[in-house]
Amino acid sequence: MKKVITYGTFDLFHWGHLEMLRRARELGDHLTVAVSTDDFTEQDKHKQCACSYAERAAIVGAIRYVDCVIPEAKWEQKPNDVREHNIDIFVIGDDWEGTFDELLGGLCQVVYLPRTPDISTSGIKHSLSRTPAPAPHSTT
Ligand code: CTP
Repeated sequence: MKKVITYGTFDLFHWGHLEMLRRARELGDHLTVAVSTDDFTEQDKHKQCACSYAERAAIVGAIRYVDCVIPEAKWEQKPNDVREHNIDIFVIGDDWEGTFDELLGGLCQVVYLPRTPDISTSGIKHSLSRTPAPAPHSTT
């Protein structure tokens, strides 16, 4: 069985996330997704999540391409995860191109997939922040 792992925050789950998980699962027979914890996202990625870790992990875990969800709590955990879960392929979007070659080289195959164009959590947050919320019980 070929085992694949990927990492991400997956806040406000969107089409680009779904496409990443679909293509990651296609590379093998079993997909583990490491979802960034709230502390890790705030302190190390310097981003504020709209959804909690529990909510994001539940959404990712409900996707049919995903076999297993684990927490991502620090940058350096990847080699341990690869060994512990007998991973063959590490995959992530090409916004990270080259970043993990040295860390994971020799442990597993490292694959960077092209990002789905024109969608991101930060883009969604940005456009929503400019859209006034409707009044409660508004019918228009
Ligand atoms: N991803 C992708 N295509 C997109 C958005 C994300 O392939 N349009 C991939 C990323 O490359 C990563 C995974 O999905 O491998 C999780 O990405 P994440 O950082 O959680 O999502 P973003 O939308 O990029 O979030 P942000 O805007 O906060 O950086």
